Formats: sequence, structure tokens, C-alpha cells
Amino acid sequence: MTDKNLQKKQAAEAALQYIKPNMIVGLGTGSTVSYFLEALAKADINIVGVTTSQVTSQHCAELNIPIVDIDEVDHIDVTIDGADEVDTYLNGIKGGGAALLMEKIVAKNSNENIWIVDESKVHATLGSFPLPIEVIPYGNGQLFRQFTDRGFFPKLRRQANGDPLVTDAGHYIIDCHLNNINNPYALAEYLEGQVGVVEHGLFLNICDRVIIGGETVTIKERQKTNTEQV
Ligand code: 5RP
Repeated sequence: MTDKNLQKKQAAEAALQYIKPNMIVGLGTGSTVSYFLEALAKADINIVGVTTSQVTSQHCAELNIPIVDIDEVDHIDVTIDGADEVDTYLNGIKGGGAALLMEKIVAKNSNENIWIVDESKVHATLGSFPLPIEVIPYGNGQLFRQFTDRGFFPKLRRQANGDPLVTDAGHYIIDCHLNNINNPYALAEYLEGQVGVVEHGLFLNICDRVIIGGETVTIKERQKTNTEQV
């Protein structure tokens, strides 16, 4: 196992301490979440999961982890998810696995969000990981042109055969190579105002706790703003 995978596994296993019997648990997507699912199945804690992708649903079926549709529950206690990048404020970029839309819906409906990452994901500012933007296929070329004009260096995500990748919800993903996102809030506001953009991979003020694998596992909590505490 590579160092990175070992750290993912350490973070995933450390997340088990936040899972209590009878919880409704949001289950993210990606290789780190796969380690979490395996640990969860082994621990045999009686929970029900709400998944964020077909891949995660499939993995749950293989591991006999019971899942329900998001609209069958009235709350989600905690969601465990990975991230592509996380900064010092616990804001992050997600969507490397093309599941950002469902991941954000599950996260926004969760009482607590915990991210599990390896050390390579932690950066002072966001942007070294290309920002995924999920768009409606119709007119995606117009958005692409707009992003190019803004200097976002967009790239349409494609499958191995060259066709555009289609998300679980039937959309395309444009990855924007921004390098350094100085003001993620302003960028999020701009993207949310563009017709045809379904969702973007900036997850701001969402993660409550990040667990970072490493020689010693580090757990950081987000400091909530006054408005959030009210
Ligand atoms: C999927 C995601 C994943 O959480 C993110 O890509 C991290 O994946 P991995 O755990 O494989 O590094 O956002 O849309």
C-alpha cells in the first residue's frame, strides 16, 4: 500500500469513532470513502446509509451496508466524505470523482460533515486541484467559452473513449484549472449566478471536522462564525 493509501485508510478508520448505533450516515464517494465503508462493514455497527453516487451504493450492496433513499429520511446525523483539497478554514474542493452534486445535497442535509483525507490534500489556499463545475449538457460550449474568457483554463471531463463524462444526474463536468483561488466565496457566488451551471465543487462552510491520515492522525475542527452559531 502506498503512503497516500495508508493515510487514507488511517483517516477512514479514525472516522469510525463518530459513528454510533442507529445513526443515519451520509456516505461520500471516492477511494478514501471506500476504506471507510470497509471499516464500517467490519465494525458491524447498526446504521443506515444515504449514498452520494451509484458507485457508493454498489459498494454498500457488496458489503451488506443497508442504505435508503435520501427522501426516505428526515435527517442525516453525520456524513463521512473525502475531499480533493482542503484549506486551513476547512473549505474545500470536491468532485474529483464526479459526485459533487449529490455529495453537496447530502452534506447540506447533514447535522455534521466529516472529511477524511491524506496529507497531500491539505493546502493553505484552494486551487491547485482543478475546480469541477457540473453543467447542463445543452449550451455547455457557451459556458466553456465564458470560462475561457475569464482565464479559468476549462477542460471538459471525458471518459477513456473520448466521450464527455456524464454524471449520475446526467450532466457534464467542466474542470477549471485556476491554480490559486484568492476569494472562493466570490467565485462561488459568480458560478451560482450562471445559467446552465448545476453545481460547483467549492464546499464552503460545510466541513465541520477533517481527519488527516499520517504518522499521527490529526483531527481539526472548523471554527464557526457568529452567524452560523445563531
Ligand atoms: C468525489 C469526491 C471525492 O471525495 C474526492 O475526489 C476524493 O477522492 P479520493 O478519496 O479518491 O481521493 O469529491 O466526487
